[in-house]
Amino acid sequence: MLTNKTIVLGVTGSVACYKAADLACKLTQAGAKVDVVMTDSAAKFINPLTFRSLTGRTVFTDMWDTLSASGVDHIALAEAADVVVIAPATANVIAELAAGIAGDSLTCTVLATLAPVIIAPAMHTGMWRNSITQENVAKLKNRNFTFIEPGYGYLASGCIGEGRLADIYTIMGTVRQVLGRTGNLAGKKIVVTAGGTREPIDPVRFLGNRSSGKMGHAVAEAARDRGAKVVLITGPTVLPDLAGVDIVRVQTAVQMKQAVAKAVAGSDALIMAAAVADFQPQTTSAQKIKKAAAGGKMTLPLVATPDILTETKGRFLKVGFAAETEDILENAKEKMRNKQLDLIVANDVTAPDSGFEVDTNRVSIIGPDSRTEDLPLMTKKEVADRLMDRIAVMLKPKPAPKGHTH
Ligand code: CTP
Repeated sequence: MLTNKTIVLGVTGSVACYKAADLACKLTQAGAKVDVVMTDSAAKFINPLTFRSLTGRTVFTDMWDTLSASGVDHIALAEAADVVVIAPATANVIAELAAGIAGDSLTCTVLATLAPVIIAPAMHTGMWRNSITQENVAKLKNRNFTFIEPGYGYLASGCIGEGRLADIYTIMGTVRQVLGRTGNLAGKKIVVTAGGTREPIDPVRFLGNRSSGKMGHAVAEAARDRGAKVVLITGPTVLPDLAGVDIVRVQTAVQMKQAVAKAVAGSDALIMAAAVADFQPQTTSAQKIKKAAAGGKMTLPLVATPDILTETKGRFLKVGFAAETEDILENAKEKMRNKQLDLIVANDVTAPDSGFEVDTNRVSIIGPDSRTEDLPLMTKKEVADRLMDRIAVMLKPKPAPKGHTH
């Protein structure tokens, strides 16, 4: 989705400038045209040549450059931008923007642009918490600037606190979300589940499964990137939070069911990519079960967990995933009927390049009337995108029949 998008990357004078080089590199690798605009103080921290080399494009540093092609670079940049990202943003640039001051190429570009502006602040905790900075931030938020809150951790001053530049993954995610706001799922609310559940046996053991959460996260990301408001309900996973997605973390099937019941209010679709445990221990021991007490043999009574897809009812689209090891399509179609689904994604989890833990998947998407689309091996992100193509069509309002009047 970043292919051929023009991203103006504003870099201001914080030691976190070096991270902006990585951001410029990743945005460029994702296909964007990245035009870097640096303030004088940023150019003291990092040489413009670094950005020139990473983006393959001119870096703008001086408003008074008489050799520049257009003569008024900041206006050309302001008009060409699909999005402006300032990372890192100092307290100073935030104050200038809030006051409408346009004293250099970057602030002139921001003042002149109609494109959305994303600001990722980086500064010492004291400067960030200062009420003047916070007032400036509030003022800009009111004017629809998107802020990416700074993180907590080690700061250049040697202190630990709030003020670190948000991580590059979060900034990239926010760029994608902002660019996708007018996508074909704009105005829709989509609930996605991901990962496996853990059913506790005792305080240290659980029944779980091999799900990594990658497929569900890819689905949530794809829905976000098309403008949907997304709630992601996920079992334990090592995957980082997705920017711009409401994340609800759960452990057990019962907790997932409760979270889904709450989230589906007012939603347009429920997509269950989670590998929900089908059984849970009948009781959970309050203390660690001792090996000796079990006498060398152990039987664990299990009871069924609720079937979330079957039991969650409403006017939203219901989409399931079928993890199968044999008779894939037949089993998936049966699940579709039993759980009354609008779509089901069937995958063979025995193939090494498909299913659990890996980044790729080979699936078939089965729709109404059993119409089946067999997809070749592709990344989970691509599978998610193909699924969203189908969902976007199904959620599109149907045109009123001809001659229809109210
Ligand atoms: N699912 C669910 N609640 C459960 C179990 C599964 O909502 N307790 C959902 C999954 O998220 C998935 C779909 O149902 O979208 C199919 O899950 P799968 O594990 O393939 O099938 P099961 O219904 O568990 O049947 P079986 O284990 O017998 O294949």
